[in-house]
Amino acid sequence: MLNAQELRKKYLEFFASKGHTVISSASLIPENDPTTLFTGSGMQPMVPYLLGEKHPLGTRISDSQKCFRAVDMDEVGDNRHTTFFEMLGNWSLGDYFKNEQINWIFDFLTEDIGLNPARLFVTCFRGDKKNNIPKDEEVANLWQKLFQKKGIDAKIVDYPEQGGLQDGRIFYYDANKNWWSRAGIPENMPDGEPGGPDSEMFWDFGIDLKFHEQSKWKDKPCHVNCDCGRFMEIGNNVFMEYLKVGDKFEKLKQQNVDFGGGIERIAAALNDNQDMFAIDLFTGARKKLEEVSGKKYGEDEKETYAFRVIMDHLRAATFLIDDGAMPSNKDQGYFTRRLIRRAVRYANDLGITNIFTPEVAGIYIEEYSEHYPSLQKNKELILNELRKEETKFRETLEQGIKEFEKLLKGFQLALEKTGHAITEISGKQAFKLYDTYGFPIEMTEELAKENNLTVDKIGFDESYKAHQQLSRQGAEQKFKGGLADHGEMSVKYHTATHLLHAALRQVLGNHVEQKGSNITAERLRFDFSHSDKMTDEQIKEVENLVNSAIQKDYQVSFAEMTIAEAKEKGAIGLFGDKYGEMVKVYTVGDPEQEVLVNVSSPTFSREICGGPHVEHTGIMGHFKIVKEESSSAGIRRIKAILE
Ligand code: SER
Repeated sequence: MLNAQELRKKYLEFFASKGHTVISSASLIPENDPTTLFTGSGMQPMVPYLLGEKHPLGTRISDSQKCFRAVDMDEVGDNRHTTFFEMLGNWSLGDYFKNEQINWIFDFLTEDIGLNPARLFVTCFRGDKKNNIPKDEEVANLWQKLFQKKGIDAKIVDYPEQGGLQDGRIFYYDANKNWWSRAGIPENMPDGEPGGPDSEMFWDFGIDLKFHEQSKWKDKPCHVNCDCGRFMEIGNNVFMEYLKVGDKFEKLKQQNVDFGGGIERIAAALNDNQDMFAIDLFTGARKKLEEVSGKKYGEDEKETYAFRVIMDHLRAATFLIDDGAMPSNKDQGYFTRRLIRRAVRYANDLGITNIFTPEVAGIYIEEYSEHYPSLQKNKELILNELRKEETKFRETLEQGIKEFEKLLKGFQLALEKTGHAITEISGKQAFKLYDTYGFPIEMTEELAKENNLTVDKIGFDESYKAHQQLSRQGAEQKFKGGLADHGEMSVKYHTATHLLHAALRQVLGNHVEQKGSNITAERLRFDFSHSDKMTDEQIKEVENLVNSAIQKDYQVSFAEMTIAEAKEKGAIGLFGDKYGEMVKVYTVGDPEQEVLVNVSSPTFSREICGGPHVEHTGIMGHFKIVKEESSSAGIRRIKAILE
């Protein structure tokens, strides 16, 4: 059977035979773009050409692009998440369009690499009346003809979200599934951003596997975009022909195709095994790990999880170092360090006590060098960096784990003595683990979670800041908060500004945007875009909404993600302008639910912000607006207190 290395080769050969120039992957670290940390999709380096700039190598380009998504780091360990992946891509830069693309990609999948068409399902864009973008019947019909040629009667079905598969093979979905832009759905696209309808292809792992029945979606009908695991997206054809201009859409001056397909996913389909780590790209590393640990992949759940984390993280670290991101405390290097340290910590679960990261990386280097020759060139550097980082970390890890266990013992003793369980590791304790034992805070959080404990992140940040000021050195914090003072009252006021911001938008309209904020321990001040003086009723309504949110005692939590993902999740707040930049997004309420600003909503606010915030809104007291006045032209100012 075809392996992933051959798949890459075949794909590039196929598109070369269709007149494409094969280019090599751009770096994982975007060039000339200091605000974007990593290349996270195949199209990212192509944006200027999609917008109309002339590509020096013509109008048909194909490649396999290295991608790294730091947000997925904590998800790795299941059978389908990786931080690093390769995206097979082909581009028409104002050249061919829907007909050629759909015909070619179908041929490639079903003829060249031999995927069974009966196991392929596809989706198309349902259209967007609001933005005057039509339903993509053209592409749906193209697919139907192609399946027909294979003797498959492919039914086109609308509203699979409600009705399920309904014996269909071609499905229409809204923009949240079948529209691609770096910022997500049309509404979230900034001025000047290109995007377009897309058509995705899915592999069916089979109804017999009973994924759906055993998943949390079992009460709803299964459809291709259901996350139960039966279907896996293996590629996306984007027909990029629109440009956002103001809040409207215009046609770009050229019709582009952006196809992207994850190598690992297509290989998993070829394998017909939903465990992505079972593909050949991981075989060498897995064997090496089995050899050094004496453990077998797939035998024990916890160990298999550790195998996957290590395989993913060391592959990513190998490629990151190759592209110049040496392990360090800042920027991209911070992620390389985190990857290596996490891998070493998970190696503990496999009983690996000797230096092993260079050995695993060595295998990746051998296997990937044919397509990525710089790995061979930088081999010594990569292995040295890994050895250095692992050695340094191992020296402290053992002591750190002991320290952590001591903490647990202390908690246990306290429970026996007082009858009260301690469920939180204090900021000071977490900071000691960080400062003395080199535990990234995320690692302490993971260890805590494994032991059903939480970590006082606010307290940790406080200790961190105090330490920073003391030592006056800039061990740069990755996600900067906007507050100078982390005192308890200011934290409450900070959360109050999020509630206020959400409530103002609800009452006055979505034109309301934060224009400034200032917090002391006594009050908050919030400036926002709105031209008219607020009426007494509006003020009352805003106060009531905020107080209802406080009374509901929402949980407040955050997640780190790219700006594009933040926008997709409906986050408000100050966006940077570069795709891929990591931000922290705070949610008041259920982080999985959509934001609705009303008294019965599960989720009240979602905003990009550095924090810190209270953990529960219930502790904030009673919110009162004490002043509403003009700040400058078109900007109002509110002063409010918590009583
Ligand atoms: N840009 C699209 C994606 O990343 C296809 O390459 O899914």
